[in-house]
Amino acid sequence: MGVLTGKVAVVTGGGNGIGRQMALHFASEGAKVVVNDLGGTRDGSGTSRVADEVVAEIKAAGGEAAANYDSVATMEGGLGIFQTAMDAFGAMDILVNNAGILRDKTIFKMTEQEWDLVIAVHLKGHFCVSQPFARYIRETNRPDCRIINFTSISGLLGNFGQTNYSSAKAGIAGFTRTLAIELKKYGTTVNAFSPVATTRMTADLVAAAEGGKEEEVDLDDPMTGGHTISPIVTWLASDKGAGITGQVIHGGRGSVGIMSQNQMFKLYETDHVWELSELDKLIPSMFEAKAVHDAAVAEGAAPVKV
Ligand SMILES: NC(=O)c1ccc[n+]([C@@H]2O[C@H](COP(=O)([O-])OP(=O)(O)OC[C@H]3O[C@@H](n4cnc5c(N)ncnc54)[C@H](O)[C@@H]3O)[C@@H](O)[C@H]2O)c1
Repeated sequence: MGVLTGKVAVVTGGGNGIGRQMALHFASEGAKVVVNDLGGTRDGSGTSRVADEVVAEIKAAGGEAAANYDSVATMEGGLGIFQTAMDAFGAMDILVNNAGILRDKTIFKMTEQEWDLVIAVHLKGHFCVSQPFARYIRETNRPDCRIINFTSISGLLGNFGQTNYSSAKAGIAGFTRTLAIELKKYGTTVNAFSPVATTRMTADLVAAAEGGKEEEVDLDDPMTGGHTISPIVTWLASDKGAGITGQVIHGGRGSVGIMSQNQMFKLYETDHVWELSELDKLIPSMFEAKAVHDAAVAEGAAPVKV
């Protein structure tokens, strides 16, 4: 008996990297898993049946799984993914919105297509796949459901060359906060996960950091790959995760942490239109208040070895 026994989980982008490891871990904990994957390359071009390999792996280990090859970036695709869960297992409890691509360019060189595609797969993809599940939760009063979205440090803190990706990932954090509010009364938790793992998406960065070649980076190292993320997401998806909602959890490569939420540091009010001379004092004092807060946060974020 695993912590997800009796649950039906959908993992988008479950054919590679973090998604693959989450699908395998969910199944090893007793979930019936829909492995969705369009099967394209890192930049989203092409298609393949890579989801079949993960389904075969789950079945070979004695688990239950079904493949889906739809794109998360269309409404039809989102509906198709939900329908696969219904056709194969007659229910749905857990959705992990993990599918993703990269089209990195600086603002000077980015094309409209590169912008649109990344926003479509990541941000619109979260909407397309979540909506049929949310409607099902409401219509059937399905209790204790989970939605785990995939954000990124790139969206939360910013990263050079990724205005499209970081916009989508920051949007996903906002989507998470609002969906958590909308689904609260049904007992569904909605959280965002900010991962760090060695996958084909990050292999070039790992190679650059280690001074090696991208094609020689080991994507199956259990200490650095998606393996390091799957237990955290499984925990959130299990009954233990009840009541945790609207949060941004960060983890991978041996770390787990929680990100702060946007909040007001200092607020001044007036009953007239601000005079520039007033702002000369107030705006620097706002930044002083923020600096004190940032220093306390930085102290709390120093890693604690366990
Ligand atoms: N690896 C990291 O360190 C890291 C850091 C921050 C965020 N992320 C996010 O984690 C998630 C997983 O990334 P990964 O590193 O495992 O990458 P990956 O490339 O190994 O896996 C992504 C999977 O999504 C699939 N996919 C892409 N477009 C799709 C579509 N339209 N429909 C269905 N499937 C589609 C791909 O085929 C691929 O199998 C992504 O959302 C990524 O942005 C990863």
